[in-house]
Amino acid sequence: MIKEEDVLKALSNVMDPDLGKDLVTLGMIQDLNIAETNIAFSVVLTTPACPLKEMLRKDCLDAIDSLGLDGIEVEINLTSTVTSSRTENLPILPNVKNLIAVASGKGGVGKSTVTSNLAVALARTGAKVGVVDADIFGPSIPTMFGCEGMQPTVKKVDDKTWIIPIEKYGVKLISIGFLSPGDNAIVWRGPMASSALKQFISDTDWGELDYLLFDLPPGTSDIHLTLVQTIPVTGAIVITTPQKVALADAAKGVSMFRQPQINVPILGIIENMAYFTPAELPENKYYIFGKDGGKELARQSDVEFLGEIPLVQSIRESGDNGEPVALKDEATAEAFMSLAKNLAQQIAIRNASQEKTKVVEVNQ
Ligand SMILES: Nc1ncnc2c1ncn2[C@@H]1O[C@H](COP(=O)(O)OP(=O)(O)OP(=O)(O)O)[C@@H](O)[C@H]1O
Ligand SMILES: [Mg+2]
Repeated sequence: MIKEEDVLKALSNVMDPDLGKDLVTLGMIQDLNIAETNIAFSVVLTTPACPLKEMLRKDCLDAIDSLGLDGIEVEINLTSTVTSSRTENLPILPNVKNLIAVASGKGGVGKSTVTSNLAVALARTGAKVGVVDADIFGPSIPTMFGCEGMQPTVKKVDDKTWIIPIEKYGVKLISIGFLSPGDNAIVWRGPMASSALKQFISDTDWGELDYLLFDLPPGTSDIHLTLVQTIPVTGAIVITTPQKVALADAAKGVSMFRQPQINVPILGIIENMAYFTPAELPENKYYIFGKDGGKELARQSDVEFLGEIPLVQSIRESGDNGEPVALKDEATAEAFMSLAKNLAQQIAIRNASQEKTKVVEVNQ
């Protein structure tokens, strides 16, 4: 009869290359069942989007093979549970595992476009995803998700009124755009905007989520401070174009999150509008804003480069039409799917290797 300890010993030679430890130590081997002619177990991955799935399956098979057992059938069930960056018992958003800030230095570089598409792409991998439109003065999320004019309902539990987020394309959404009539310019003072953001966090019924993305306004504002002071941010992603002026501002964004008193990990940099590709000549790339600037910034700042997104007419059109391009089956959607996988991977690495996140205390 095959011994459980032998199987586990063999599997402890299989490394998760991202997390730098073996699958047994990481607790990823579960439901091990050994019968006369059959070994079955689950490998619980840290993200449904794990790009290394098939490699891990093969490494597990090879490890069992190395035991030299004859006529044994091996059944591996690959499943996933997204890991959390949260400490237990924090009352704010208790069932949201990861809180991701999407920032940029410069405006108009594509934060909202990337946030919408990343959210849809993560949801397509099977994750539970929400988006907070933290751009209180210039909300874009209702347009990009095609739900302008929709109004969230509320529910009352005991004495508290909860806002139920709008759900579209499998993503839960909240935006000031849902709560104020469309054409009125919002002339709010900073503190009012901050208190609207706090409501999105603490008065919205988010339920269980793997990832909650915050689409931030450009630059470094009160909203950024409110965010890091209200919730324990898992990490930030910084969007930039390859252009010099955008890169300089993106670098400022990176250093804001890295200030010792804020100390939010940077999960990576995304280069948007990396090059222009005309639909009719998909092989042609025109580097109109410069080349590889985002990659270079990632290198200089010693953070991951999560990927690049080209400047394509269909991305702009899909945003304006409220159907993020990541929903579709075309090459551009692939770019967002790969970005989502890289992001999920970085979050899993962060959760395995760094401390749980804390709410920031800033004395202004
Ligand atoms: N990769 C892309 N290809 C084509 N158009 C794009 C791309 N990324 C963004 N855009 C377009 O550029 C404009 C600005 O994008 P977006 O609103 O996402 O930027 P932002 O950083 O959120 O802006 P703001 O700082 O105002 O919040 C939009 O019209 C959007 O459709
Ligand atoms: Mg925006």
